[in-house]
Amino acid sequence: AKVHFTDFEGATQVIEATTGDSVMETAVRNGVEGIVGECGGSLSCATCHVFVAAQDFEALEPMEEMEDEMLYGTAVDREENSRLSCQIKLCAEQEIHVTTPETQV
Ligand code: FES
Repeated sequence: AKVHFTDFEGATQVIEATTGDSVMETAVRNGVEGIVGECGGSLSCATCHVFVAAQDFEALEPMEEMEDEMLYGTAVDREENSRLSCQIKLCAEQEIHVTTPETQV
């Protein structure tokens, strides 16, 4: 899997991700700035907020109610394409484009 991370200033890096990892884990493992993942993926911090590119957003499994609720607590306001990146688990052939918010705290 590949994750394209674009920061709020428009700089992009492409990371080769391990299948089964989440987008948050991929970011933290590779030192990608803009994603904190304070709670380790247990849906209790909302510091893993990302904006998902439209075509990729459509392809994701719909979010659970808990994730939807947590998205109201993000540091930068949620948008239509907001997700918590710890809830996006990567499949082998998956390629996804996300933009990180200016801050997570
Ligand atoms: Fe805490 Fe995603 S890492 S909610």
